[in-house]
Amino acid sequence: QYPGYAPTPPMGWNDWSYYQCGENEQNVLANARALVSSGLAAKGYDTVTIDDCWMAADRDSAGNLVPDPTTFPDGMAYVGRRLHSMGLKFGIYEDAGTSTCGGYPGSEDHWTQDADLFASWGVDYVKLDGCNVPTPAGENDEQAYHATYAAMSQALLHSGRKMVFSISAPAYFEGTSAWDSVIGWSAQLGNLWREGDDIALGQESGAAKWSSIMDNYGYNVGLADLQAPGRWNDPDFLLAGDSGLSQDEIQSQVSLWAMMAAPLISSTDLTKASAGALAALGNKDVIAVDQDPLGLQGRIVAQGAGYDVLSKPLTGGDRAVALFNSSDSAQTVTVSAATAGLAEGSSFELENLVTKAVTQTTGTISADVPPHATVIYRVSPGGDRKVQPATAITWQDVST
Ligand code: DGJ
Repeated sequence: QYPGYAPTPPMGWNDWSYYQCGENEQNVLANARALVSSGLAAKGYDTVTIDDCWMAADRDSAGNLVPDPTTFPDGMAYVGRRLHSMGLKFGIYEDAGTSTCGGYPGSEDHWTQDADLFASWGVDYVKLDGCNVPTPAGENDEQAYHATYAAMSQALLHSGRKMVFSISAPAYFEGTSAWDSVIGWSAQLGNLWREGDDIALGQESGAAKWSSIMDNYGYNVGLADLQAPGRWNDPDFLLAGDSGLSQDEIQSQVSLWAMMAAPLISSTDLTKASAGALAALGNKDVIAVDQDPLGLQGRIVAQGAGYDVLSKPLTGGDRAVALFNSSDSAQTVTVSAATAGLAEGSSFELENLVTKAVTQTTGTISADVPPHATVIYRVSPGGDRKVQPATAITWQDVST
């Protein structure tokens, strides 16, 4: 198995959703500086990933990848040094096929050469996309994908540098019978994997963004069995920013992603992000739910007309409980503490992780939830409840 280089879900920034092929040295480094000056880097958003289109059209005569001389004139080792000097990590995009989705040279048959080049540039995180993978056995040729991703996994492992490996293969099998199997071997070969559709692009409307957040939440929330600490499902980027989303929608995405122990990767222009967006991204109590060392993906424990309740076990016997109103009207969402996985007959302290209000309850967890909003609580045992050691908590404890 690939080493556990990401003991908690990766956090950081990626240019794709906002810039697509318009990224360059200036806007990448400007966003890196914004990560630091906003305080997000100190809260864990530490990996800056340059996505597709950073390359020149062709490899050089020695077969090495070449950064686009216009957009990255100082080269990638320079960008890596600048990021490292800010205390950040350097992520880069490549593709497992003959060319990237954007048409630039893919890594096919250059695994060792590319992995070694990335290592020499100081890369800390590699995202390997899955466009244009030759599939001799037809479109759903799982073996062809497996072989290419295994080759890069080995090449990274032997590069001499510790690089988190983000795999996109499962996204190319969403909805096929091979999906679970592809996720299974992705968890052997890397640290995180995209499983489905891309999240909306920065220029799309708020409504389109919300619907894509719901789509990605929808496919990711059912995959908890396939995730383990250090091996993460990745439902794609956080859209908080200049996004056209309401503050409730922004907060919902961050809260739901945290409940699912998903990677928290912002993809917006952080130099222009609203104060509300930065506050949602930087909520350290919500980040702590995401980054909890137990590394369990939260699950839906109750569902009704237009609402889901998720519960996630946390270290030390606390639970995160989220009441998500997916409907277009306000509603009161209520769940019993027992259904949320807490011991019956005990008293609990509920901390609303956004408003910071603390209340007590014995039997029910409830809130008035505006449309598209999520109320996220940390539920801590109080009164006579015996704190369970972290290791004793598994999903089998949850009655659903
Ligand atoms: C598809 C991926 O899913 C996106 O995140 C992005 O990397 C694009 N390809 C780039 O072409």
